[in-house]
Amino acid sequence: MVHATSSVLLLLSLALLAPGLSAQLCSLAGNWTNDLGSNMTIGAVNDKGEFSGTYLTAVADTPYNITRSPLLGIQNNTVWQPTFGFTVQWTFIESTTVFTGQCFVDKNGKEVLKTMWLLRSRVGDAGDDWKATRVGNNIFTRLRTLKE
Ligand code: BTN
Repeated sequence: MVHATSSVLLLLSLALLAPGLSAQLCSLAGNWTNDLGSNMTIGAVNDKGEFSGTYLTAVADTPYNITRSPLLGIQNNTVWQPTFGFTVQWTFIESTTVFTGQCFVDKNGKEVLKTMWLLRSRVGDAGDDWKATRVGNNIFTRLRTLKE
């Protein structure tokens, strides 16, 4: 009888906690690194899913003057494994990148961001528009610090 009661209580607490857990999982807030070695830091995600942060790319068309650049984005923070988008306005070159993707959680609880991006480079003439946008994909994982 005691065993049955504690099982019911356990199930009840899981049912109550589950929505809160899924809302907290896969928030983009934190430090991330991608397959190119680029790092980004995203601040708190607000109740509308909006966030801002900074991006330090490991590669660029002008690799000698790379500086940390601002990003602005929004995620769906109402569902498990949410989609999101963010824009990076590069501060060291006149180009802009938009990323869109989804946060996945694997069976070990590890979060991974699968993204695609469009990189728009500035060209001086509309006739060069055809070659101004590149497309690619990046995979981000949490950047662990020594303390973690
Ligand atoms: C530029 O060279 O015009 C600015 C830097 C672009 C870096 C790109 S954005 C997509 C890809 N993912 C990264 O982490 N860096 C490159």
